[in-house]
Amino acid sequence: MARRKMIYEGKAKILYEGPEPGTYVQYFKDDATAYNAEKKAVIEGKGVLNNRLSEFFMIGLGQIGVPTHFIRRLNMREQLIRQVEIVPLEVIVRNVAAGSMAKRLGMDEGTALPRPIVEFSLKDDKLGDPLVPEEYIIAFGWASQQELDDIISMALRVNDYMSGVMHGVGIKLVDFKIEFGRLWDNEFPRLVLADEISPDSCRLWDVETGRKLDKDVFRQDLGDLADAYTEVAKRLGVMPSNVTHRPKPTLIN
Ligand code: TMP
Repeated sequence: MARRKMIYEGKAKILYEGPEPGTYVQYFKDDATAYNAEKKAVIEGKGVLNNRLSEFFMIGLGQIGVPTHFIRRLNMREQLIRQVEIVPLEVIVRNVAAGSMAKRLGMDEGTALPRPIVEFSLKDDKLGDPLVPEEYIIAFGWASQQELDDIISMALRVNDYMSGVMHGVGIKLVDFKIEFGRLWDNEFPRLVLADEISPDSCRLWDVETGRKLDKDVFRQDLGDLADAYTEVAKRLGVMPSNVTHRPKPTLIN
């Protein structure tokens, strides 16, 4: 069988050339990384869970009118997506102080924020994805003012949708990271939600117990990451039938 052309390999996903022009196949790996890939492990079943969960959120967002790159899931680990030009920003929305914000501002983790806060990091692993002000984004041309306005309003819609869906299954959406891409209609760029939405890129806390159900379980050695993601998938009714028995994660560094 002919090997597919690999376009790009990231920390948790691989992009392959798609079957038609303008498409890619997005493959979800089992690799988990944290602290800019200083900590690494293979978590059996993570890719399958994230493929399903990202499909679930992208379809739901599409149904409420948020445009996304998602076309359809192909199999357990792969989805067909539209080829986009990635905007080089990590768009972070926060509802509750945690992670780098809590650290930077000396806030207690879990402090509710007065309103959802959108912030931006430059996508650059070598620089450690530094936080950047909107002024930089416009001045350096990473996005136009119109694009930035659209990104903020879409990010807040994603937050409302995701917060509601999660609240419905007893999970608090603390914060999350999303990425956007440009689709070209003739010479006009149109922004769509790209990359993935999964517990790898969100903070999710059980409403009753505060149990962490996201990648912080791996970052902070709080237990079995796949168990946490499986719990999220089960509550949302997104449970692939053959990811019930898994060996323990193997450290690869
Ligand atoms: P932070 O508190 O570490 O800045 O993370 C904010 C949110 O963004 C959290 O849900 C984790 C997510 N995130 C990523 O998905 N990728 C990243 O590289 C970083 C730094 C954060």
